[in-house]
Amino acid sequence: MTDTVTLTIDGKAYTLPVVRGTEGERAIDISKLREQTGLISLDPGFGNTGSCESAITFIDGEKGILRYRGIPLEQFEENPNFIEVAWLLIFGHLPTPEEYERFSKLLTRTANIDESMKHSFQGFPRSSPPMATLSAMINALSCFHPEFQAVDDLTQLEGVAARLISKIRTIAAYSYRRSRGKPLIYPDPKLRYVPNFMHMMFSQPYEEYVCDQDTRDALNLLLILHADHEQNCSTSTVRMVGSSQANLFTSCAAGVGALWGSLHGGANVQVLRMLQHIHKGQMTPEEYVSRAKDKTSGELLMGFGHRVYKNFDPRAVVLQRMAERLYKRMKTDDPLLNIARKLEEIALSDSYFVERNLYPNVDFYSGIILRAIGIPVNMFTVIFAIGRLPGWIAHWAEQNESATSRIARPRQVYTGNPETKYVSLLRD
Ligand code: CMC
Repeated sequence: MTDTVTLTIDGKAYTLPVVRGTEGERAIDISKLREQTGLISLDPGFGNTGSCESAITFIDGEKGILRYRGIPLEQFEENPNFIEVAWLLIFGHLPTPEEYERFSKLLTRTANIDESMKHSFQGFPRSSPPMATLSAMINALSCFHPEFQAVDDLTQLEGVAARLISKIRTIAAYSYRRSRGKPLIYPDPKLRYVPNFMHMMFSQPYEEYVCDQDTRDALNLLLILHADHEQNCSTSTVRMVGSSQANLFTSCAAGVGALWGSLHGGANVQVLRMLQHIHKGQMTPEEYVSRAKDKTSGELLMGFGHRVYKNFDPRAVVLQRMAERLYKRMKTDDPLLNIARKLEEIALSDSYFVERNLYPNVDFYSGIILRAIGIPVNMFTVIFAIGRLPGWIAHWAEQNESATSRIARPRQVYTGNPETKYVSLLRD
């Protein structure tokens, strides 16, 4: 297969190199296009633009494949361990028992946040959206850890990654407690990552919350399913900010902002609202699907569609299995799960969705699982952020370590006024 392509502009031929990935995907390297031809490429939404080469996550959207460092996502389903996967993503290999223990201890030691940071929670109104608090507090970590302004080696990377992964959970739990006017609960050094988060969320000073095995497995798996997704909007944001050599905390704080939007991580909240809307009888599933097809309604079928997956989203398949399993074990049912099943059935047999390759995505079933384990709706996207954090760190570090990375600086095609003379309309 060819390793170059020829582009003809005004009768002149230009040869451009083709870069090949390890799974056979190919890309035209246009980094010298403007220099050679005077032209740039135009790709709104970057649907056809590879912004980097990356060795972290592989997606084949046509076949519904997602692999972390080569390992298919489904293989984490049996014995889910979010911290093991976080290490895998960040350091490129599964941790040895020694590495795992060392990293776990570091997570335990660094779980607390500075006392003065705790006071900052009081500065936000109780009604603050937790994603706003999360972003602000992650950024504030830059003030408390100037030693990680730059990350120069693997020991430093381990130190900063542990602090971020550990503290995001404490910050998330505190923002929830604050929104409910409840006392802040300190992390418990005896508990592993997920039970410790649930303890900080739900324990009372007079009553310990005990995280059962089903909840622990469900949340571990859910976090794993969200852990990375190559160059999605928030990860690209983290890389974009990091490309200016901004520190990891600030870059991830920007990632939280990008994730918040309802077309990205915020979709999990919108899915739940949609299901509740139908459950309250305000609309039937059939009516909702019709509205989502009507371009003038301004509504979408939330939790459906994906830029990359054009067959099925493998995360949604695992999540649906998990939801069914969880409710069976809990010997209960959620009317919203039945509504979700119905919506999926209607959409998947409707030509609008079939022709556009629109399938349930990761956000379609995640809210139902989060509800089952007691997570309140306004924390859904925060949980997505906790899950996505190892991916952000891995991408930031990969870019930071790369000798060839440059500041991200796209160009544009200007469509505004031609040169115009300044004639002020104000009278002095
Ligand atoms: N409901 C109804 N129509 C849809 C939907 C939907 N959920 N998604 C896409 N379409 C239509 C879209 O209007 C367009 O129609 P037409 O060809 O007639 O103009 C066609 O399908 C192609 O969609 P697109 O706008 O080119 O898709 P995109 O790649 O720009 O956007 C998306 C992808 C995920 C933002 C979009 O599918 C969407 O808004 N879905 C609902 C929100 C959602 O669930 N987001 C979570 C995404 S997955 C997790 C994550 O990234 O956080």
